[in-house]
Amino acid sequence: MAKFTISGSSISQGKTMMLMVLLVFFAFVFVYCMPTLNNNGSLLSFNSSGISSSVQHLLLRQVKELNEKLIVPLEERVAALEDRQKKHPKVKYLAEKDRKRILITGGAGFVGCHLVNALMLEGHEVTVVDNFFTGRKSNVEQWIGHDNFELINHDVVEPLYIEVDQIYHLASPASPPHYMYNPIKTIKTNTIGTLNMLGLAKRVRATLLLASTSEVYGDPEVHPQPETYWGHVNPIGPRACYDEGKRVAETMCYAYQKQEKVNIRVARIFNTYGPRMHMNDGRVVSNFILQALQGQPLTIYGTGSQTRSFQYVTDLVDGLIRLMNSNVSLPVNLGNPDERSIFEFAERIIKLTGSNSEIINQPAVQDDPQKRKPVITRAMDNFGWMPVVPLEEGLIKTVEYFRDELKKSKTSNKKDSPDL
Ligand SMILES: NC(=O)c1ccc[n+]([C@@H]2O[C@H](COP(=O)([O-])OP(=O)(O)OC[C@H]3O[C@@H](n4cnc5c(N)ncnc54)[C@H](O)[C@@H]3O)[C@@H](O)[C@H]2O)c1
Repeated sequence: MAKFTISGSSISQGKTMMLMVLLVFFAFVFVYCMPTLNNNGSLLSFNSSGISSSVQHLLLRQVKELNEKLIVPLEERVAALEDRQKKHPKVKYLAEKDRKRILITGGAGFVGCHLVNALMLEGHEVTVVDNFFTGRKSNVEQWIGHDNFELINHDVVEPLYIEVDQIYHLASPASPPHYMYNPIKTIKTNTIGTLNMLGLAKRVRATLLLASTSEVYGDPEVHPQPETYWGHVNPIGPRACYDEGKRVAETMCYAYQKQEKVNIRVARIFNTYGPRMHMNDGRVVSNFILQALQGQPLTIYGTGSQTRSFQYVTDLVDGLIRLMNSNVSLPVNLGNPDERSIFEFAERIIKLTGSNSEIINQPAVQDDPQKRKPVITRAMDNFGWMPVVPLEEGLIKTVEYFRDELKKSKTSNKKDSPDL
């Protein structure tokens, strides 16, 4: 028999029909038979129907049962839901003059949700705009219903009209499998999307911070990379939709600054990792951790001598907020200069997870940068920023997160399919 579910309990359609009939009957009796009350206020008899007291008792018992089985559990469930909505993390109180209205595009993604947390806890009003291509509502669910928070399902390729003081423009797929999935959309997001956000910043006189990337340096011929380096990007390679998309997004920011006097900030973000990364992110940190936790071989593309510098996500968020509130409009590298070879990184993950996985080499991928290490003196000198979370500490938290996620997905796979 077809079933539907209320608050986790299943009720067959047959039973429901019976309950409905009873309810209608009871309502009829109540309206037309007008019960009289005795001195104590209890139901005594029906004045015109002639319905016997045994029928009356039966009806009352049915209603009581209905109440106990259905209404009370439902009321309890609703109360629990309302209560849960009220339980947001405690935020600082900011006076009107200090409280900013902040837009975060891509705020339901990995970096975005950590930024949302930091700005909400500081007491600002935060609006997240996301099309949920790679972002998830669950990343920001703890704030849903909070007076200072708003979540808008919107694609930045379409114009947006809201009133804000600051815009953190993060909307863009960030990992190679995601940005290569639909290269044309990646280009549109980074070009039309950025134009739309700059147009908004111009209209409402907001400061816009662009989440750019170390990929603007391409496969660098200068090492380590200072912001003054112009980069070495293949404009027609598989990564170009993202690399060139971000390069033109930077160009747009400076055009709007020059021509329209828009206040802009440009963060060139280096590899970032931490909890809430995507399981299928496809980048080296998540790949290695998941492979190690599942006892699969760790795959290195190329020799493994290529290097990366990994920064923990809270360091990045701290840098983004400081940059936004600084007066630096030149591009600024935000990354951890602690450089490791990919091979060394793989060995470290195996040790940290206690895995028996082996390391295997696959052919190198096209245009994979061979070296990555930021020069961060601009951020240090201008707004006193430097990363503080050591690799080991950040990795332990990230491994824990992936362990939990794996556990959750195993449990949900085991569950019976829900009633429809
Ligand atoms: N994570 C890193 O290592 C890293 C490195 C360099 C730069 N960045 C930049 O930081 C930003 C955030 O990266 P992330 O790692 O959090 O990636 P992510 O994929 O987790 O987050 C990106 C968010 O943008 C949203 N989005 C994508 N296209 C959109 C569109 N057209 N309209 C509205 N929303 C859209 C996605 O749904 C997602 O929530 C990106 O701009 C990325 O280029 C990240």
